[in-house]
Amino acid sequence: MAGSASAPDPGGAARGESASAAWALALHHRSHDDEIALLRVAVSCALLAPSMHNTQPWRFRLRPGAVDLFADRTRGLPVVDPEDRELTISCGAALHHLLLALANLSLTTETIAFPDPDDGDHLATVNVSRPHETSADERLLFAQLTRRHTNRAPFDNRRPPPALVDLLGRAAERHQVTFQVLNAAAQRREFARLVVEADALQGSDRRFRRELAVWINAGRIRTLDGVPPPGFFSTGGQAGASTTITVTSIVENRLDVAAAAERILASSPIMAVLASGSDDPLAWLRSGMALSEVALRARAFDVWVSYLNQALEVDGYRGSVGALAGPAGAGTYPQLGLRLGYGPEPRPTPRRPLSEVLYLAPPERQGPPAGPAEPGDAAGSSRGTFGPGEDGEPR
Ligand SMILES: Cc1cc2nc3c(=O)[nH]c(=O)nc-3n(C[C@H](O)[C@H](O)[C@H](O)COP(=O)(O)O)c2cc1C
Repeated sequence: MAGSASAPDPGGAARGESASAAWALALHHRSHDDEIALLRVAVSCALLAPSMHNTQPWRFRLRPGAVDLFADRTRGLPVVDPEDRELTISCGAALHHLLLALANLSLTTETIAFPDPDDGDHLATVNVSRPHETSADERLLFAQLTRRHTNRAPFDNRRPPPALVDLLGRAAERHQVTFQVLNAAAQRREFARLVVEADALQGSDRRFRRELAVWINAGRIRTLDGVPPPGFFSTGGQAGASTTITVTSIVENRLDVAAAAERILASSPIMAVLASGSDDPLAWLRSGMALSEVALRARAFDVWVSYLNQALEVDGYRGSVGALAGPAGAGTYPQLGLRLGYGPEPRPTPRRPLSEVLYLAPPERQGPPAGPAEPGDAAGSSRGTFGPGEDGEPR
């Protein structure tokens, strides 16, 4: 299991037995009901994925031998995310969680992205087939599903080991995404400045504030989506300054850009940008898968991942981040700004129940799973290389 040699093994040896011969036999002889039950378990794991403002903008459809993932655009954020870019990234994270769960249920998967050219909401079909030998790496990542949370606390000044940074770079590459660490002091400072300025611009937009307030408010303590404060707010120099560093200006009357940037720098031992080579729904889906793998791998080293996305959400600023983080001359599209480090355990956010996001295909739609896409097949569809981890070849 390359790259995780120095990581703890939270799973323990016992999970290594999941692909035992008996289990393989049981899978082979499973009934329709057994199979649907297994797929339900896998989808319930997918629900643990991160999503913007905890909107959980996904729906899953079960058919014998397949799970379909759909975008739920009714849960979009038209002001901050007008193209559903971050919505699709969120769904990509759920897809990666799903594949990881299926692999840990000893099921072989084959993923077709955008299988239906007439339905842009149909993000992926995951065909599930014969028994699969769960790898140690898949077990390690799976064990992080419940250990991963977004941590908005300031991180302490310990820097995660360089081996982890390399590992995260390779993890992102498996999804055709780059994990670009901002190392130079000037680069870090410039990124922090862009974040603070973009944050101030967002905060000055009444529509943005209103949309944010729908999803992030005290009432969210009683709902199964959204984010209750103080998980999100209060970065300022005033009360609650130590709780988060995410939103810099909204709660401050006067913005001191330099001081706010300094707070971000001091709280972010690693700043990184996930970027893709194109800027389309498939690239967004892959970016979400990369986010999931990066965040889970980081947790295997007890490292938290959090977000600095403001500059990627404001016109004009996203290009500046691309110029800052991208390899010189290459066209890269920044998809997420991240900070990584060590800090106190945050409170988990809630999730909607399976019954709200899952449905069974009616019998007439329970036909054969989506077949292989030939070259030139369904425009925009893409299959393979959607694995959950190091053995992430088409299964
Ligand atoms: C595409 C995407 C964008 C996000 N942007 C931010 C952000 O800008 N600031 C932030 O604090 N959290 C951000 N998050 C984290 C979500 O708020 C978080 O995933 C959600 O509340 C669920 O909580 P959890 O990650 O702890 O499970 C983002 C997550 C995703 C997937």
